[in-house]
Amino acid sequence: MTAPTLTAVTARPDGPGVAWARPAPGVRLACADWLDAARSLAPGSVDLVYADPPFNTGRARSGAAGAFADRWPSTRAWRGWLGERLAATVPLLTPAGSILLHLEPRVSHHARLILDDLLGEDAHVNTIVWSYGLGGSSPRQFARKHDDILFYARTPGGHYFDPPMVPATSRRLAGRLKKATDVLAIPAINNMAHERVGWPTQKPLALLDVLVRACCPLGGMMLDPCCGSGTALIAAQRAGRAAIGADASARAVALASARVSGDYGKIPRRL
Ligand SMILES: C[S@@+](CC[C@H](N)C(=O)[O-])C[C@H]1O[C@@H](n2cnc3c(N)ncnc32)[C@H](O)[C@@H]1O
Repeated sequence: MTAPTLTAVTARPDGPGVAWARPAPGVRLACADWLDAARSLAPGSVDLVYADPPFNTGRARSGAAGAFADRWPSTRAWRGWLGERLAATVPLLTPAGSILLHLEPRVSHHARLILDDLLGEDAHVNTIVWSYGLGGSSPRQFARKHDDILFYARTPGGHYFDPPMVPATSRRLAGRLKKATDVLAIPAINNMAHERVGWPTQKPLALLDVLVRACCPLGGMMLDPCCGSGTALIAAQRAGRAAIGADASARAVALASARVSGDYGKIPRRL
């Protein structure tokens, strides 16, 4: 796999130069800090931000395809880092736009307060629970088996939403579909999974398929400023949405580029 060719483009004359590549139709990708990427994009141009940033776990996250640092001197320092980036990102949203911020329960309350400050408490739509199932049990606590995805609207009550349908579980509705709740039970990617590309904390396409289709209109623009291996970009592509991805790691960007351009052989390309 070779690194993508990056072409220098500055979308806003006063913003820092970010080199956006176009690895596939409808997809822009850059190796850039979230903050620089956000500052280089036009206000009001994004329908959905999906952000899956580092959680300050205090350790490096590594996988077969690469690694990224996930350590700040304190929770307060991480909160400041996140707050600065969210503040730069909120103005990018269209009036009907929204943000999905993917975190773990250990830190999600910090982000909720940041987003309450930036967008208002009324802008909180849901805290979506991603119930992923995998992992061990614990004799000391209820086993931790979910992430929180904070869903905020740019305009309280004015956001785009197309309720996803999921198979009903009750006997009465057996074999039929029902509207999804705020708990999404979707397995994490296991070691043998076909879609696994080796990026640490890679999220399953099945989860991003549901989120992108529900929260970004057909033909709309999705931004993932910490795109890692590019899972959200592929979900957007498969759903007929345009996508912008950025990541501070050149290895992640090369991987995401290969996935969206179809060069990475393992990824299912069908809708
Ligand atoms: C949790 S992972 C994202 C995984 C991704 N959702 C996927 O499915 O592959 C977080 C990503 O944030 C990136 N990152 C860390 N600091 C960053 C920054 N300041 N700006 C942009 N990306 C950053 C890391 O390189 C890593 O790829």
